[in-house]
Amino acid sequence: MSDSASHTGRHLILLGAPGAGKGTQAAYLKQEWGLTHISTGDILRAEVRAGSVLGQEAKSYMDSGALVPDDLIIRMMEERLKTLGATGYILDGFPRTTAQAEALAAMLKRIGQQLDIVVDLQVADTELIRRLSGRRVCPNCGSVFHVDTMPPQEAGICDQCNAELIQRKDDNIEAITNRLEVYKAQTQPLIEYYRRQGTLVTIDGTIGVPQVAASIREALGGGQ
Ligand code: AP5
Repeated sequence: MSDSASHTGRHLILLGAPGAGKGTQAAYLKQEWGLTHISTGDILRAEVRAGSVLGQEAKSYMDSGALVPDDLIIRMMEERLKTLGATGYILDGFPRTTAQAEALAAMLKRIGQQLDIVVDLQVADTELIRRLSGRRVCPNCGSVFHVDTMPPQEAGICDQCNAELIQRKDDNIEAITNRLEVYKAQTQPLIEYYRRQGTLVTIDGTIGVPQVAASIREALGGGQ
């Protein structure tokens, strides 16, 4: 049995292209270790649903697969990180640009925290497109499925809360193609950024969800 208490205070970033499995792994590790999962995509989608000023500004960027401007994201994350204290967390989808990585480094320095590892989940483009095209999500509890490889027990219905599953607005081929291009131009350089800092761990993201989680656990130095 894993010991969730021994993993509190851990701070990790999940890097990886759209569809690499960041959200899936974060949900798995959150449940197993009790870490807080901070997904900028989930926060932004909640802001869009709530119709907030931030949500209204972010919506068109998100629908097309472009990044939301750095200043909005950095302000949003500063607020969020301040409330976390010493609790361990998983950052999913942040940082995504060098400016965001530098802002995060400054925030962590101010609050006296250090990143333990930055996990780069590696998955080929053809597999990313297959995953995103077939992904279905629960608008109520956030559970993630795939129509072929991780189908819900009843087609179109969430296993956890029985809500009707939906397809994300940016999971159409046009937006997916744009997201992959944006990832390569703006986020991929962070792999080298964190490699230089000695925190990067590269993990094959195609080996099955529990196996990927086991590789992350091993990289973080946590045993079963
Ligand atoms: P965000 O929500 O972060 O989307 P993303 O990075 O494009 O990542 P995804 O959520 O699409 O993929 P994932 O890696 O989490 O994969 P998942 O686990 O779901 O961001 C959305 C938008 O918000 C951005 O485009 C941008 O506009 C904005 N935004 C967010 N953060 C921002 C920031 N910091 N700066 C600026 N803008 C920002 O898995 C995908 C599928 O694969 C699922 O169906 C799953 O079941 C399946 N799967 C997962 N793992 C496996 C496996 N090991 N084997 C087989 N199938 C698997």
